[in-house]
Amino acid sequence: MGVKFAKRIENLVPSGIRRVNERALALEREGKKVCHFELGRPDFDTPEYIKKAGIKAIEDGDVFYTSNFGKLNLREAVAKYLSEKKHIPVAGENILITVGLAEAIFDVLAVLLEEGDEILVPDPVWMNYVNIPKLLGAKPIKYDLSEDNDYQPDMSAFEERLTDRTKAVVIVSPHNPTGSMLSADTLKRIADIAKKHDLTVISDEIYERLTYGENGHISIASLPDMAERTVTLNGFSKAYSMTGWRIGYVAASKEWISALNKIHQVNTTSAASFTQTAAIEALCGENDEVERMREEYRIRRDYAVKSINQIKGLSCKVPEGAFYIFINVKALPVSEEKFAEYLLENYQVAMVPGTVFGENGRGYLRMSFASGIEELKEGLSKLERAAEKIFVDK
Ligand SMILES: Cc1ncc(COP(=O)(O)O)c(C=O)c1O
Repeated sequence: MGVKFAKRIENLVPSGIRRVNERALALEREGKKVCHFELGRPDFDTPEYIKKAGIKAIEDGDVFYTSNFGKLNLREAVAKYLSEKKHIPVAGENILITVGLAEAIFDVLAVLLEEGDEILVPDPVWMNYVNIPKLLGAKPIKYDLSEDNDYQPDMSAFEERLTDRTKAVVIVSPHNPTGSMLSADTLKRIADIAKKHDLTVISDEIYERLTYGENGHISIASLPDMAERTVTLNGFSKAYSMTGWRIGYVAASKEWISALNKIHQVNTTSAASFTQTAAIEALCGENDEVERMREEYRIRRDYAVKSINQIKGLSCKVPEGAFYIFINVKALPVSEEKFAEYLLENYQVAMVPGTVFGENGRGYLRMSFASGIEELKEGLSKLERAAEKIFVDK
């Protein structure tokens, strides 16, 4: 039977990250050892105190639908975290619990965007911010992030991209794929533009706990008069190593939360009950395990950055957050696509070509350093050999 699928899915491009991952897994099935640097997935297990809370919840019969908005005590715990640590003035009623941040993006954009509306998104960026507006018939308008400008947008070019159809601006800081962070000055300027043009700011803060430098992360919703026009997205996947638990949240005005709940309810009903209980424990029972993981990422980052910058033809900036390095491969005699393929097929090192994240990723590879130090050592020494050999082969 020939199914005629809806036209809207023709606009969706399959994930380039998964494409690399699937080829890496196929090589493993052939018996090859692959160094995995392609996925944005922490290699740590979920901390023990969180797992125990999840298991206990299931054993205690915490296995039914919850309020669509999420459990009240989780919403309150999230609000406490955001108000105390991120200085965002919110209470439990300002929080919606979602099935990962991925669901939150869909809900927020579905509530906001009409067909033909425009939304500013960074280039490069994690592709959901391009794909979902397209799915909804809206237009993602790219603003440039470039290495030359330390991955800070040029604010006059940014403002020039606005039209009377622009409804919102997406910011992702710390950023996937570059590991950069928006500076305090950039955030202030984005806030000023949002206020001047009456725009919503959608702020993806999934990596906010994973920062390594002196500049701590700032939530744009904590800036003067920004809480009312900011939708803050966050979740438990990265900092708590809980990608498979599928739990995230939105923090926004009450008006936003009740609009979002309409989509969330028809979409998922609610996040899983025992996962929500584990998330409460993640926040309220936190010990030093989360901080230990962050410190380990910092050690790996420093090791990887130093090694990469010693390789002929490659260079990278020191990422301030997340667990990605955006490696500049422009000096190699082949494109990033060809080099990523060469690296995977000949050296079994999996990295993602930067163009998967947008046109400004041309000439870059994204490497995730959420892998053990031994894997990093092996993979980076293979990367060095591959970079040397490609000059000979070409
Ligand atoms: C910027 C960004 N936001 C959101 C997510 C997904 O988060 P979640 O696992 O909560 O859906 C990712 C995953 O890689 C990401 O890079």
